[in-house]
Amino acid sequence: MTSTASTADVPHARAGSSTPRAHRLPSTGALTDRLDRPMRDLRISITDRCNFRCVYCMPKAVFGRDYAFLDRDELLSFEEITRISRIAAAHGVEKLRLTGGEPLLRRGLEGLVEQLAELRTPDGRPLEIALTTNGSALAVKASALKAAGLTRVTVSLDSLDDELFQSMNDVRFPVSRVLDGIEAAHAAGLGPIKINMVVKRGLNDHEILPMARRFHGSPFSLRFIEYMDVGTSNGWQLDEVVSSAEIVQRIGAELPLEPLAAAAPGETAARWRYVDGGGEIGLISSVTNAFCGTCNRARISTEGKLFTCLFASEGHDLRALLRSGIDDDGLAAAMASIWGARDDRYSEVRATLTPELRAARSKIEMSYIGG
Ligand code: GTP
Ligand code: 5AD
Ligand code: SF4
Ligand code: SF4
Repeated sequence: MTSTASTADVPHARAGSSTPRAHRLPSTGALTDRLDRPMRDLRISITDRCNFRCVYCMPKAVFGRDYAFLDRDELLSFEEITRISRIAAAHGVEKLRLTGGEPLLRRGLEGLVEQLAELRTPDGRPLEIALTTNGSALAVKASALKAAGLTRVTVSLDSLDDELFQSMNDVRFPVSRVLDGIEAAHAAGLGPIKINMVVKRGLNDHEILPMARRFHGSPFSLRFIEYMDVGTSNGWQLDEVVSSAEIVQRIGAELPLEPLAAAAPGETAARWRYVDGGGEIGLISSVTNAFCGTCNRARISTEGKLFTCLFASEGHDLRALLRSGIDDDGLAAAMASIWGARDDRYSEVRATLTPELRAARSKIEMSYIGG
């Protein structure tokens, strides 16, 4: 397909309607927001459900038995997700990340991955398809996901101590099964695998060193995430954040570290490597060293709203547009205008807010938008 083809000659995505031509749309040209940031990364939440009840994300007191999760027809269908992703690729997106809730709970996920794996950038490259998971079902699903075309997985793991891990996920899920899942993903070739640890002071910060020791010298890259004030359910307090500087200092005292240059523009993690050649770690410092200036991430919620920031209170209803029968040009124009108006930089602004102002902001939950 040449770069002069119009988007109008692309059939609307319906199951079975795609031809090789439809996998690749021409570039819409350089799309940037009001702070001159491109859209490169699209994170798609495919379910708001999770089989864990991590105390900092889906506390049982809020997400209990009678919590109203979305009905099936409220979720974007796989075809709708693929259609949005195809247009996002024309706008410059090169990486898709499937999140949740817990994305492995969405039935038939492999079918979605297959459709996404067919998509191409305007210059003909496949998109990177990553998935963030709690790892609980990876041992069962890893090889099918790889076969479907998934590129890599990132696994959340907050502790190696089984008792603590079970109390943090609050459903008594054993850590050994997550470790088995990581090994299965590795064996299936879903790497490079990243392990994400959210650190909350007084809860699991004593696990920083055991985690570092465990993954030092392994093929896995461990990333420490500063605990954030996402959503309104987790009762976040600033003194519960362990800064990345403190984490580097604590690990470096035992396993010396040196900083690395960023691998890609807009990366969330600052990378450090072990001086002894034992691999690298990442530090995600959204509280102490915000990275909004290069933020190229767009997010699609489970029910098809486009959010331009993890901390936004409102999304833009793409599902309504899709279901109104809009054509690809119309959808592409709508997404471009939303991105063009974007000026979000919450993590940079956070530091200037009083606790009262921060608490007064309504923000979406992480389980609904994904990390
Ligand atoms: P790679 O593609 O492997 O580089 O992953 P990533 O770091 O882009 O994504 P991942 O989902 O692994 O992000 C790790 C964590 O960083 C998330 O769980 C969030 O806690 C945090 N995070 C990711 N994106 C953002 C963002 O845009 N803003 C803020 N404030 N935090 C983010
Ligand atoms: N702060 C930082 N990261 C969080 N996550 C969930 N809640 C928070 C929070 N409050 C992370 C999870 C997982 C990803 C989906 O988001 O640990 O790695
Ligand atoms: Fe825990 Fe992730 Fe589930 Fe949230 S979505 S409860 S962080 S496993
Ligand atoms: Fe991007 Fe918003 Fe996160 Fe800043 S706070 S990095 S703008 S998602």
